[in-house]
Amino acid sequence: MSYLLHLEEVDSTNTYLKIRQGSLPHGTVVYADRQTAGRGRYSRKWISDEGGLYFSVLLKTIQDSFSPNLTQLMALSICYALEKLGLSPALKWPNDVQINGQKISGILSEAVLEKNRLQAVVLGVGINLHQKNLEHVGQPATSLQLLGVHTDRDTLLNSVLHFFWQGYPDLCEKGFESIRKDYTQRFAALDKQVSVQHGEKTISGRVQGVSPRGALLLQTAQGLQEIYIGDLQA
Ligand code: BTN
Repeated sequence: MSYLLHLEEVDSTNTYLKIRQGSLPHGTVVYADRQTAGRGRYSRKWISDEGGLYFSVLLKTIQDSFSPNLTQLMALSICYALEKLGLSPALKWPNDVQINGQKISGILSEAVLEKNRLQAVVLGVGINLHQKNLEHVGQPATSLQLLGVHTDRDTLLNSVLHFFWQGYPDLCEKGFESIRKDYTQRFAALDKQVSVQHGEKTISGRVQGVSPRGALLLQTAQGLQEIYIGDLQA
């Protein structure tokens, strides 16, 4: 399914695909040994020295309404690949993957719009692989190396992509419903008191679960709220 492009160095694999999306086919995957300007969610930097897995996928056949769920399918695919290696990952809503409460992977989803119409979605994935020092991350983080799990980058990339393309047709047809059971089973925050930050706004409450559309269900002082975007702090 994937048309794979390997680069030794790039500013950001997401930027690479966004700029070229018009001339590249649906399903193009670009991965790089290092990124000089790797980006995370909320304009954060994603330090991308050699040793990590950095890749982006170009998707051109997605309905607007299901595009937020693509990151959730990708996060779940990362979980399946890590489970194949004997690990027990958990999902931190909406799409971080953690092992024992430490971040091992993050996803940056970016939409390409033309005249307000969705042309493509670029899904960028960073997985901590051979890094030995993750102090720069600014939150508890781990890597496969630190966990004592040995695999090579290309095997891990192929494994994640295998699970992603396997789930993609069903996600396009049914949306979050197609992954709801598996996603919920790995969902870490159930029943916890959390706050969710988006821009200037912070909403606090107790996590009730994930809605049929993949939103976070939070019981707040004002009632039950469905939250579609934000950064969750436990
Ligand atoms: C996050 O957790 O904040 C998301 C991190 C996403 C990082 C990946 S690495 C490959 C792709 N290219 C980028 O510039 N960012 C994503």
